[in-house]
Amino acid sequence: MQGICNPIIVLDFGAQYGKLIARRVRELRAYSVIAPYNASAKQLREMSPAGIIMSGGPASVHQEGSPKPDPQVFNLGVPVLGICYGTQLFAHILRGKVSRAERREYGIARFEHDQNTDLLKGLGSPTQVWMSHGDHIEELPEGFTAIGRTENCPYAAIANAKRNLYGVQFHPEVVHTPEGMKIFQNFVHGICGCDESWDMESFSEKSVAEIREQVGNRKVLCALSGGVDSSVTAALIHRAVGDQLTCVFVNNGLLRKGEPEMVRHVFRDNFHINLVYVDAEKRFLDALADIADPEQKRKTIGSLFIDVFEEEAHNLGHLDFLAQGTLYPDVIESVSATGGPSVTIKSHHNVGGLPEKMNMQLLEPLRELFKDEVRALGRELGLPEEIVTRHPFPGPGLGVRCVGKITRERLDTLREADAIFIEEIRKAALYDDIWQALACLLPVKSVGVQGDERSYEEVCSLRAVTSTDAMTADWYRFPPELLQRVSNRICNEVAHINRVLYDITSKPPGTIEWE
Ligand code: XMP
Repeated sequence: MQGICNPIIVLDFGAQYGKLIARRVRELRAYSVIAPYNASAKQLREMSPAGIIMSGGPASVHQEGSPKPDPQVFNLGVPVLGICYGTQLFAHILRGKVSRAERREYGIARFEHDQNTDLLKGLGSPTQVWMSHGDHIEELPEGFTAIGRTENCPYAAIANAKRNLYGVQFHPEVVHTPEGMKIFQNFVHGICGCDESWDMESFSEKSVAEIREQVGNRKVLCALSGGVDSSVTAALIHRAVGDQLTCVFVNNGLLRKGEPEMVRHVFRDNFHINLVYVDAEKRFLDALADIADPEQKRKTIGSLFIDVFEEEAHNLGHLDFLAQGTLYPDVIESVSATGGPSVTIKSHHNVGGLPEKMNMQLLEPLRELFKDEVRALGRELGLPEEIVTRHPFPGPGLGVRCVGKITRERLDTLREADAIFIEEIRKAALYDDIWQALACLLPVKSVGVQGDERSYEEVCSLRAVTSTDAMTADWYRFPPELLQRVSNRICNEVAHINRVLYDITSKPPGTIEWE
């Protein structure tokens, strides 16, 4: 098995920065791990890092209680790169001097540098960089020299090449520093000596070996939804332990057109995975009858899912592990602007609380991966593109898109409209440009004329957004011809809809789902 290079550890001094830097390192096919800023030198040494990157962050080194690393990180004998706040920490801890800048430098700056340095070789000079800092370094610590500068910042890049300590005041990880990747490349491949061994083939081999070791001859249960994360989790575990894995797929009646058939076809017929298909449509629809309130819908769907899943698991006898498709951004320890570490863990609503209740251990083989890596791993495992590139779909499914009361008939109407919308987007080859596209059925009736007849039917609202993390989103600008085609088809082909709207609300203030 090809080994994966020792990690680059990103010490995170501010939410979001660390994640982006870790992504950049992975784009260079090196392995990166995010650690909280206050990880001790001993903990870091145990991770055998190839190098350390100290991220930027919103704090000032002078602020009381601002996040500081263990000072021994500089004595681990591994290269360290500081970014923005991370660089000011060099000066602060190694006895240089950091002061408040007269003018806060924010935005694009022209950066010039000594062109023959290990960190900056291959970059143009001048080149554009993105600055965002209030403090600046006034005196360099002993052994450091300036290797690059901007108009307002004489120490925009610094180095103590003998000790392999480097720092930049700007942000190489953002797109506004167009040559930033070259800096990471010089640091990661050149200075730290990482090779390009982080790819999904090596990850899959490493992960399969780890799962085999952890599971032994015991049994694993996985709740399969047909979404990317649970599908890749199931395929990976199946590769590792084959028939010791059983997947449970619950049809809650709130799925999209063709979804139950697709999941059964892919996992049972192609992968030959033990798949328990549970038709719980009637139970869910009975439980949801008369509920129109969004939160009550979500709670009803969530708790019934747990009941159904638990019953099925019970029927299967004792299972030792519950597999879950938790991703890296969900587990990363981050720091808040006030300097206190805060753990952001998204609870997957579908199986929340289950492992303890059922006395099972959690198996989370994707917890080191970012979403695009999960997709790449899915391809490596042979999952079809239809699953690998799928738009996200919420656990409560069409329940939160069938606005108002949920009935089987309204769900069928919505399923048809949604399928037409997605089909036209795929035909126009726009599916992969869009984060998520969906149709909603609104409990509003309007008058129309269909054929020569007056109609009085419900309204379908279409929504498509671009986003990188679903925290913010913008509505997608379709060519008008596509919207026209979708509208015509829905009104002509789907009974009970006579009007189509396109939702042009960004997030915030809107959310992606309607409910
Ligand atoms: P909102 O509507 O909050 O959604 O802008 C953000 C993203 O999360 C998805 N979503 C969910 N995913 N369970 C999930 O697994 C849920 O209960 C849930 N609710 C919303 C939504 O589709 C979007 O991608």
